[in-house]
Amino acid sequence: MSGDVVFVCGGPELIDKVEGLWKQLTLNSSRHSVDFSEHYASRCFDQRRRELRSRAERGKLRIDIAREAGSGHDLGYCASCVDADGLGTIESLYVHEHARDRGIGDQLMRRNLKWLKENGARSVVVFTVYGNEGVLPFYYRYGFRPKALMLEIKEQ
Ligand SMILES: CC(C)(COP(=O)(O)OP(=O)(O)OC[C@H]1O[C@@H](n2cnc3c(N)ncnc32)[C@H](O)[C@@H]1OP(=O)(O)O)[C@@H](O)C(=O)NCCC(=O)NCCS
Repeated sequence: MSGDVVFVCGGPELIDKVEGLWKQLTLNSSRHSVDFSEHYASRCFDQRRRELRSRAERGKLRIDIAREAGSGHDLGYCASCVDADGLGTIESLYVHEHARDRGIGDQLMRRNLKWLKENGARSVVVFTVYGNEGVLPFYYRYGFRPKALMLEIKEQ
């Protein structure tokens, strides 16, 4: 159980609040990536902010932040979007290393999946870095199953 954790939820106005956690997620992606570590390491939040705003303009965006009630520290977040065709995407999910195994990731997922369903998502996808397969059993719990493997030409 997450105990003394409160959840702050909203839309694009929360994008800038998740910058610090997004940087940790990107570092995590860089560490796990087999061939694209440098790509993830070089990603900047300005680019991510633009992407999320664009998703919000073309559909709907939801952000949930898990916050420690006493200290006000942000412990994790989940961002989701649904487009006009009913495709839902879990855009990001991250829980701070020291806050894991307290049910926070589970609550973030449940809240976002509920929102996606209520907001017209007919299917929901999530992408993860090739090399981060350790997270798959977590997603299996919510019904996700691997569907495709994406390959991209790596610029030398
Ligand atoms: C994946 C992640 C969000 C899970 O967050 P968390 O707060 O530790 O998860 P919870 O404590 O809510 O776990 C819920 C349940 O899932 C299980 N679980 C958590 N991570 C798991 C994993 N990698 N594999 C299998 N089960 C897992 C927990 O044991 C728990 O099970 P229980 O209810 O039977 O006790 C967190 O580990 C994380 O941020 N990882 C790094 C970022 C990442 O990989 N994000 C996904 C990128 S797409």
